[in-house]
Amino acid sequence: MKKITIAIDGYSSSGKSSMAKALAHSIGYRYIDSGAMYRAVTLYAMRNGMILPDGSVDVNALINDLPEINVDFKIEDGRQITLLNGENVEMEIRQLPVSNNVSLVAAIPAVRHYLVERQQAFGRDKGIVMDGRDIGTTVFPDAELKIFVNASAETRALRRVKELSEKGQQVSYEEVLANVVKRDHIDETREESPLRRANDAIDLDNSSMTVDQQNEWLMNLYNSRVN
Ligand code: DC
Repeated sequence: MKKITIAIDGYSSSGKSSMAKALAHSIGYRYIDSGAMYRAVTLYAMRNGMILPDGSVDVNALINDLPEINVDFKIEDGRQITLLNGENVEMEIRQLPVSNNVSLVAAIPAVRHYLVERQQAFGRDKGIVMDGRDIGTTVFPDAELKIFVNASAETRALRRVKELSEKGQQVSYEEVLANVVKRDHIDETREESPLRRANDAIDLDNSSMTVDQQNEWLMNLYNSRVN
C-alpha cells in the first residue's frame, strides 16, 4: 500500500495529538509531535536563563545556541518520549511553566526555521503522521491528507485539566482556560507561520465526539485516501 504524509493541525488541547498517535499506531506510521519540539526548545531557554525577568525571550542568545539544541524522540515502554540533548524531558515539557512560555519561543522565526527543517527530515520517507499548527501549510504543504481540528476553548481547557490531573498535577480550570485562550491568540497572530487552516484541509470539530468516534472518523478518512 502506498505510504502517505498525514498532517493534523489545530488549536492547543484539541485532542489532535491523541488522534494522530492512535492513527499512527493503527497503520504502522511514525508519529511526530511537533509541539513537543517547540516545548523542548522552550525548556532549554528556561533552563539557560533566556526567559528574561520581564517575560520576554533573549532571542540572540537562543539563536546562538540553536545548533546545540538537539530534539529527538524515542519509544520507551511503548510510549513516545521527547529527548532534549539525549535527556528525557517528556514530563517537564508538559507542565504549566513551559506551556506559559512556549508560544513566545515558537514565534521566533529562527526557531521555527530550525525546527521545520528537522520536521521535514523526519518526514522525508513519508509514512508519517505529524501534528502541530503549521504542518499542512508550511512543513508538508504537499501532504496527501490534512486535517484541521477544533473544539471550544472551554472544552479544551476541561480536557487539559483532566489530562494533567491524571498525571498527578492539580491545576485550576480558570488558570488552564486563561492559558488556552492566550496561546490561541499568540499562535493565531504571530507573523511567522501562524496557526492557519490549509485550504485543502478537512475540518473536524470534535467538541461533542468521543475519542473512539474521532479515531474511527480519521481511520475512515485515511482508508478513503489510500484505497
Ligand atoms: O501542541 P502543543 O500545545 O504541545 O504546542 C505547544 C506550542 O508550540 C503551542 O503554543 C504552539 C507551538 N507550536 C507551533 O507553533 N507550531 C507547531 N507546529 C506546533 C506547536
